Amino acid sequence: MITFSLNGNDLSVDADPAMPLLWVIRDIVQLQGTKFGCGQGLCGACTVHLDGIAIRSCITPVSEAKGKQVTTIEGLQGNTETDEHPVQQAWIKNNVPQCGYCQPGQIMSASALLAKNTSPTDDDITQAMSGNICRCGTYPKIRQAIHDAAKHLASPASSNVSTVPLTANFQSDLSS
Ligand code: FES
Ligand code: FES
Repeated sequence: MITFSLNGNDLSVDADPAMPLLWVIRDIVQLQGTKFGCGQGLCGACTVHLDGIAIRSCITPVSEAKGKQVTTIEGLQGNTETDEHPVQQAWIKNNVPQCGYCQPGQIMSASALLAKNTSPTDDDITQAMSGNICRCGTYPKIRQAIHDAAKHLASPASSNVSTVPLTANFQSDLSS
């Protein structure tokens, strides 16, 4: 048995210690918001938090979660459907998703970034998000949403209007 906390609840799973955490989350626990993309740590679709750090669950053995806190996209918001995390609110406001497949991973990376840096620069965002691929090219909206969420976290009452200009997108960063 491997025991860890998943979205605030203690969980014990009877799994091979080498099984990727992603399989435990999706196939054993049946939380399927976390996506499978490349399976090689290259696309970010499977991003979850391990003790608050964004990690690729497709290449993380479940044994590494032992005794730790795992948070998935399902655990990011509060207890009600309208109690979204500020990053989720900013995603909605900016209409970020297109097909949506990469978005849980994008949100998990963005929320991990903002947990340690509530005023990220464009370079900070590029660095933190460069491992999350979006085939639909939503990078400019993702950047905008992260700036909006940062403003909300810095001053929750005055975060409705963004004045942060769009600048470089992740696509150009990734292709360089
Ligand atoms: S599925 Fe894990 S990084 Fe692509
Ligand atoms: S929204 Fe389609 S892959 Fe990102």
